[in-house]
Amino acid sequence: MSTGKKRVVITGATGMIGTCIANRLAHDGWGLHLVDIDAGRLAERASQLPPDTTFCESRLTSPADCAAAIDGAGAGIDGLVHMAGIFVSHDLTAQSRDTYDDTLQNNATNAYDLVTAVLPRMQSGAAFVFASSLGFNRGNVDQVSYSMAKGAIVGLTRALSRRLGPQGIRANAIAPGIIDSKMVAPVVEARGKEALLASIPLGRFGQPAEMAGAVSFLLSEDASYITGQVLNIDGGVING
Ligand SMILES: NC(=O)c1ccc[n+]([C@@H]2O[C@H](COP(=O)([O-])OP(=O)(O)OC[C@H]3O[C@@H](n4cnc5c(N)ncnc54)[C@H](O)[C@@H]3O)[C@@H](O)[C@H]2O)c1
Repeated sequence: MSTGKKRVVITGATGMIGTCIANRLAHDGWGLHLVDIDAGRLAERASQLPPDTTFCESRLTSPADCAAAIDGAGAGIDGLVHMAGIFVSHDLTAQSRDTYDDTLQNNATNAYDLVTAVLPRMQSGAAFVFASSLGFNRGNVDQVSYSMAKGAIVGLTRALSRRLGPQGIRANAIAPGIIDSKMVAPVVEARGKEALLASIPLGRFGQPAEMAGAVSFLLSEDASYITGQVLNIDGGVING
């Protein structure tokens, strides 16, 4: 599809944060290609966005799957925003190995496969934005695999910044803190809302929409000299 717009692929596009990012990037004038696991929800979202929005249902389980997921995105891809992810609590036992594999696959291995899929369609000026997490910065007690996966995202971001910098392609990540969302509801339940709020200098949970402006910025020309960075969007927790 050629509309003259820059094209961005958003994974996890019907999630709480992905939805806000899609709205913001559409407002910024990007052409959108949405990827998530449910075709019905994708079709509904696309109907609320500009008519050149495309989408693909995918679980991003392999290099071939990722290549198929971005096939309809267009010949040139100017941005990849990888928000697809899962957050699972588990025991630290050998029996949790399946959960570990799932968590790494659905947060980090899919990022590697997406990068190899989109790179041949990228040129100088393109940019990646990945989702890391406070869970990596702090290390989550009950989500060891998630903390590891989000650390892998940081390694990927830094490696890509060095490898692709000479081609004019940038790579950055956001590290959301505790966002008012379904994903962290089990943590709020387990740890207690008041205790969590007390750990946040701004004294409140973040809103999904507060991630979107940062992603917009990191994709934009205003961030043209920023690469290899992880932007903590956490109400100041990391300094607490
Ligand atoms: N919500 C938070 O507090 C928080 C904090 C730190 C980091 N993050 C990260 O931000 C990102 C978005 O989080 P969110 O709050 O919007 O979560 P969410 O659960 O609302 O959205 C995640 C989306 O990813 C999709 N998804 C999951 N596995 C997938 C797969 N294999 N293939 C394709 N799509 C898949 C889901 O269907 C869902 O729509 C995630 O990577 C998450 O780890 C969130």
